[in-house]
Amino acid sequence: MSERKGIILAGGRGTRLFPITTAVSKQLLPVYDKPMIYFPLSVLMLAGIREICVITTAQDQEQFFRTLGDGKDWGISLSYITQPNPEGLAQAYILAEEFLQGNSSAMILGDNLFFGHHLPTLLAEADEQKEGGTVFGYRVVDPERYGVVDFDDQDRALKITEKPRHPTSKYAVTGLYFLDNTASARARNLTPSNRGELEIADLLHSYLDDAVLLVKKMGRGMAWLDTGTHASLLDAGNFVRTLEERQGLQIGSPEEIAFRQGWIDADQLRVRAKLFEKIQYGQYLLNLLV
Ligand code: G1P
Repeated sequence: MSERKGIILAGGRGTRLFPITTAVSKQLLPVYDKPMIYFPLSVLMLAGIREICVITTAQDQEQFFRTLGDGKDWGISLSYITQPNPEGLAQAYILAEEFLQGNSSAMILGDNLFFGHHLPTLLAEADEQKEGGTVFGYRVVDPERYGVVDFDDQDRALKITEKPRHPTSKYAVTGLYFLDNTASARARNLTPSNRGELEIADLLHSYLDDAVLLVKKMGRGMAWLDTGTHASLLDAGNFVRTLEERQGLQIGSPEEIAFRQGWIDADQLRVRAKLFEKIQYGQYLLNLLV
């Protein structure tokens, strides 16, 4: 089990997904057969993290609690923190300071989907690094939409720029950040950018300037999917469906991960499976017991 605490940042409604996000917050929309937030939650659980806070807007908190509860059914603890205004990703570390209690953390954005054979290894390696931080670079066709990282010829990160108009690299920084226990203090020292936000790129730069940030490239065998537009949301759903139907294995099942991690026992899994006995998901969970 990891000593880190987890943060899922699910603030903001996803305006590019209007009008569907007028009623439901973006991170609760379905990605094929599960609410979107199950996927980032599963990543933290795969990393061995059991204490997780979910940061949402005040108005959305109830929806998130209704969807996820207190985590007990999955052998984890979920708590909820409000982000009153969308004032930047780095602000999460200030809002979560009390929750973190001086621990290091892994933060993931509530709309980020990762899939790949190497994921557990990448997570374990990032978790092991006690000082500084690890984030991931992923090659994309449209880097200007993301935080962009420039590497030197030995793959060492040189700089990170938030949404550059003319990117000088194809590598986006994904929304998964393993940072040590200095993150909150560093975030408090940041000044808001022109758009009035505490930028994650600036926070990462403070680590980079101290030469304690590892930006690891995620290889082409990994999928990092976007759900920011109607089309990419549908693509992500189709991706999940294709793999699940082909393999007969679930992606992003908190029940399965909790069971395999030994956080819930067979009886607890059976109780969960009963809830879904009318659909294939319930059968799938029951089959984990035989
Ligand atoms: C945010 C971050 C950006 C990162 C991206 C990953 O952008 O600011 O650095 O690359 O998440 O999803 P946003 O999605 O808020 O535009």
